[in-house]
Amino acid sequence: MKDKLKTVFICQTCGTRSPKWLGRCPGCGEWNTMVEEAEETAPAAEYSFPPSEALLYRDIKEGAKQRIQIPADEFNKVLGGGVVLGSLVLIGGEPGIGKSTLLLQVCRDFAAQGERVLYVSGEESLEQIKIRGDRLGVRDGELYLLAETNMERIIAQAEKIRPRVFVVDSVQTVFSAKLSSSPGTISQVREAANEIFRFAKKNNVSSFLIGHITKEGSLAGPKSLEHMVDVVLLFEGERDHSYRVLRALKNRFGPVSELAIFEMTASGLQAILNPSAFFLKERPAEESGSVVVSTIKGSRPLLAEVQALVSPTLFAGNPRRMTIGLDHFRTSLLLAVIEKKMRASFGGQDIYLNVAGGLQIEEPAADLGVILAVISCLKNRALPRDVVVFGEVGLSGEVRSVSSPLARIKEALSLGFETVLLPKGNLAMLEREDLPKARLLGIQNIKEASPLIFS
Ligand SMILES: Nc1ncnc2c1ncn2[C@@H]1O[C@H](COP(=O)(O)OP(=O)(O)OP(=O)(O)O)[C@@H](O)[C@H]1O
Ligand SMILES: [Mg+2]
Ligand SMILES: [Zn+2]
Repeated sequence: MKDKLKTVFICQTCGTRSPKWLGRCPGCGEWNTMVEEAEETAPAAEYSFPPSEALLYRDIKEGAKQRIQIPADEFNKVLGGGVVLGSLVLIGGEPGIGKSTLLLQVCRDFAAQGERVLYVSGEESLEQIKIRGDRLGVRDGELYLLAETNMERIIAQAEKIRPRVFVVDSVQTVFSAKLSSSPGTISQVREAANEIFRFAKKNNVSSFLIGHITKEGSLAGPKSLEHMVDVVLLFEGERDHSYRVLRALKNRFGPVSELAIFEMTASGLQAILNPSAFFLKERPAEESGSVVVSTIKGSRPLLAEVQALVSPTLFAGNPRRMTIGLDHFRTSLLLAVIEKKMRASFGGQDIYLNVAGGLQIEEPAADLGVILAVISCLKNRALPRDVVVFGEVGLSGEVRSVSSPLARIKEALSLGFETVLLPKGNLAMLEREDLPKARLLGIQNIKEASPLIFS
């Protein structure tokens, strides 16, 4: 018999427990996150592995992890080279971003490779999934679908079917009958993840768990799941753009630096193999205020277009400073550097800065590009079409070296750009033999940029 009387209040963001309701969680400081849940008597995480013995290090068999390759190579890369057998991968993303599509595609490809796959949905009917599957081109193969939310029944089906790949969509919709709290609460989410984790380890099944992300950007019951699972992936994108980015936040079997970019199309997610070309394809010809920067996303270089617009303000005394895709404070700082060091004056001007395509650039290596975009717009002169820039800019206007200069230059050259404006410090370190046809312009201060570029 379940004892449903004893309850506890649990923060849905961080898992802090309290015997009484609190408006503000003492653990994470969030408001209104405490939810009453049943106090569970049995600890949730009890493994049914045989009792273990301590072993001498040298007696332990070599643990080269066995991986299955996903035909979608981009996905493989993000996982660090295929999915490890018996691992549990959590994939988080906002509603409607394409999580079910991504995983159904992965299932389709595994099944086509001859693997037995079980895809469990707690959100959609089998017919709904089939409609999507038809659109994605699912063919024959051992792809099993199950529409179920009861965790015990899901595991029973999984034990029966014995898949090699197991997907649960989503962790917030399934529930264990062992607990009396409702689906989506932190104890249910944790219990579900636990059961799948145990199933994955015991049977050596590669498992994927989909998780919805709340508006604040955290996985529901996030902290407690992140430490339990082997890999945490984030699937994100801009609502008004068709591209999606998949990246790893945590990976027990590989680096977290890789990311993959996909485009959402009618036939599913297509890997964008040349992201730089994708993000530059609508760049206007010979417009002032547009600069191509070479930035690093994950471990890869990516070319992006920074745009500036400077125009007389309607808000006398309080001109606007708007940025999209760039750090607002860093941009304000760069504008101050331009005013001081290049004797430009923006009093009475609104300044808008944007990264085309809805991209986000977090790294300071875009500084020089931001500055040149503003100057180009102020002068009303376009940069030559074949120029790419990168470099961090300091408060005295000095241009500082950044990481991976060679990768940034090679990316520019491979897309047909011939001139690269870069920090002198980076240029000094480069092996020129690798780059015979490049015109590399090294500068030490932003004052040197204009004569080189606009003459
Ligand atoms: N016919 C179509 N052509 C192109 N894109 C489509 C088509 N049908 C659906 N989509 C895209 O798929 C997205 C939904 O994908 P999916 O259902 O995989 O997302 P999800 O993250 O699982 O959503 P949910 O939060 O509802 O589970 C839609 O937002 C839309 O962009
Ligand atoms: Mg879905
Ligand atoms: Zn909390």
